[in-house]
Amino acid sequence: MESVTNQSFYTISETAEIFGVTVSTIRNWIKCGWLEKENNLITSKNVLKLKGEIRRGRLDKLNKRANKSQKTKTFAPDEYLSGGSTSTFEEILAFIAANKLDLSLAIDYLLLNLLNSAGLVSVNSGAVVCKNKYLKNEPRIANINLNDKSYRPLLDFTIPKERDPAGFVYQSLREVRSKSKSGSYYTPDYVVADMAREYITASSTFLDPCCGAGQFLLSAGEIIQDPSNIYGMDIDPIAVKIAKINLMIKYKNFEFEPNIFCYDSLTKKGVDQSKFFKTCEGKLFDVVASNPPWGYHFSKSDLIRLSSDYPEINSKESFSYFIISGMNYLKAGGALFFILPESFLNVALHRDIRNVIVNNYFIEKITRFGKVFKGVFTSVIGIYLKKKSALNDNVLITGGIESYTIPQKRWRDNWNNVFDIKLDSKDAEIIKNIYDIPHTTLKGRAEWGLGIVTGNNKKYLSDTFREGYEPVYTGKEVRKFYLSEPRKYIKFTPEVFQQVVSESKFRADEKLIYKFISKYLVFSYDNSKALTLNSANFLIPAKDYPIKVTLALFNSSLYQYIFIKRFASIKVLRSHIEELPLPDFPEKVLRKIENMVDQITSGGKTEVKKELDDYIFDIFNIFPEDKEVILKSI
Ligand SMILES: C[S@@+](CC[C@H](N)C(=O)[O-])C[C@H]1O[C@@H](n2cnc3c(N)ncnc32)[C@H](O)[C@@H]1O
Repeated sequence: MESVTNQSFYTISETAEIFGVTVSTIRNWIKCGWLEKENNLITSKNVLKLKGEIRRGRLDKLNKRANKSQKTKTFAPDEYLSGGSTSTFEEILAFIAANKLDLSLAIDYLLLNLLNSAGLVSVNSGAVVCKNKYLKNEPRIANINLNDKSYRPLLDFTIPKERDPAGFVYQSLREVRSKSKSGSYYTPDYVVADMAREYITASSTFLDPCCGAGQFLLSAGEIIQDPSNIYGMDIDPIAVKIAKINLMIKYKNFEFEPNIFCYDSLTKKGVDQSKFFKTCEGKLFDVVASNPPWGYHFSKSDLIRLSSDYPEINSKESFSYFIISGMNYLKAGGALFFILPESFLNVALHRDIRNVIVNNYFIEKITRFGKVFKGVFTSVIGIYLKKKSALNDNVLITGGIESYTIPQKRWRDNWNNVFDIKLDSKDAEIIKNIYDIPHTTLKGRAEWGLGIVTGNNKKYLSDTFREGYEPVYTGKEVRKFYLSEPRKYIKFTPEVFQQVVSESKFRADEKLIYKFISKYLVFSYDNSKALTLNSANFLIPAKDYPIKVTLALFNSSLYQYIFIKRFASIKVLRSHIEELPLPDFPEKVLRKIENMVDQITSGGKTEVKKELDDYIFDIFNIFPEDKEVILKSI
């Protein structure tokens, strides 16, 4: 979980990420009262409680009651198609929906249609004739009732040439809710192709441990000669069926039974358990690749098993379990490629898996893919790992305007093992020079305070001043250097508030109040003993370093640059602030800064702010060309 002071709140988008749903779903849940908002934040307690409710299946009931239409909400993931024309697919989707066909059976007919076009079956004589003996092992398709008039037209569509047309239809007609609950968003071609080009050779053995309809298996099949070297597993029987037929069509000149199993690759159970054991038990692969489910909702009993099988993972995050399990399926020196949400790189919750990776494997490459999945707002990265240790190697970062490398060692040693991929070698050099100046930090040298959580803002806050009330500041009023006019007032009655630090902290002679939800460092000086709400946290630095110099540094463009490059966060956490350097400047410099801060806080002109910002660049001896780089990147 996140650092001690701030870990108790999540933004709405972070909450959406935790549950694997959209921001609007979270808003809907707030509206329905299943989550509560405090100053636009959601408490982790609330999140945990709701997770429990979901595990116990209560939310499904609530969801149905509150929003019946959501139950049948579907959409076509167009990004999954590589060709231009979608009109035939639209017709197929409309046909299935209009006739209320059973999705699994409709998929069987489409698969038969595809098998027929590939010449693997013939359906002309009124019965299905399988030309590949292994197709008989798919009895639902081999023995399909060709006289069923409601489904039969599905055999007559001319399905456009796509890698996985049946998977597209399946994806399109599955309910959004069930897709996000099981983390089932299939990966588009262009992302998967990257992996195939990188790692696979004609003789590779390949596994996708959660293969869906087989996108990765098919991509591997572009290069691998023998289909019996391709393996897949998934817990969804319909996906498994599609993947098998897809592979048979891909290798239509081979007689083979695809090594694809309905099997839970984490908890090691499933319909095909015994088949799986016969074929795969103890098998290790050259390449493991997938887009594993993110934020999968495990049952309580599965979680017990997973915590014992993967004790290094505390986050209960499905992709983290899959990374470790994927590594266990690899030969020494083998390669793993996974698609992950960008938040994996820096969110404190995923420190556990980053720590495992950085200490045990070689991170060969990280590629930024941007937003890949329709309806999923998260940006996506691809991570390429080798099963070998690699502390002296460099990680290649691609997908941005330029490619560059980062020493992996940096991530082993840095704060929370954050994979700060935005810090290229120039940035790293500038930041190293800043940190090379002898300095101290606020770690262990400040008192910290969270703003008040009232538990009921409507009840306890007033928009106007009233007898017995005093100003209370929110993040909105926190500006660089000073607080703007208060918009809310409160009667300080700590006994009734949900969460409040001891009053003596608020009443310190001097403190720095900072915006908590922010991409920018924004610190106000306060000597009015002001109260804050939880979007404005505060700190009381030890007296041995001048508070106004700390204020000036933290508000400067130079420190904003450090913040963006090192932490790339939308929340300003105590653990970030504790990493910012407070250099041992000569007295003369300290006094000069204090003097400028005094001019600013007593209503000084904007020129002084600019002068101070430039002066901070000067005292750190930043070269003009580096200053340009810094100002451009913030
Ligand atoms: C994001 S989809 C990706 C599918 C496919 N790898 C792709 O990229 O197109 C994740 C898949 O994981 C499957 N899945 C979830 N938990 C699983 C488990 N424990 N074992 C195997 N498959 C699982 C889901 O059914 C779903 O098909």
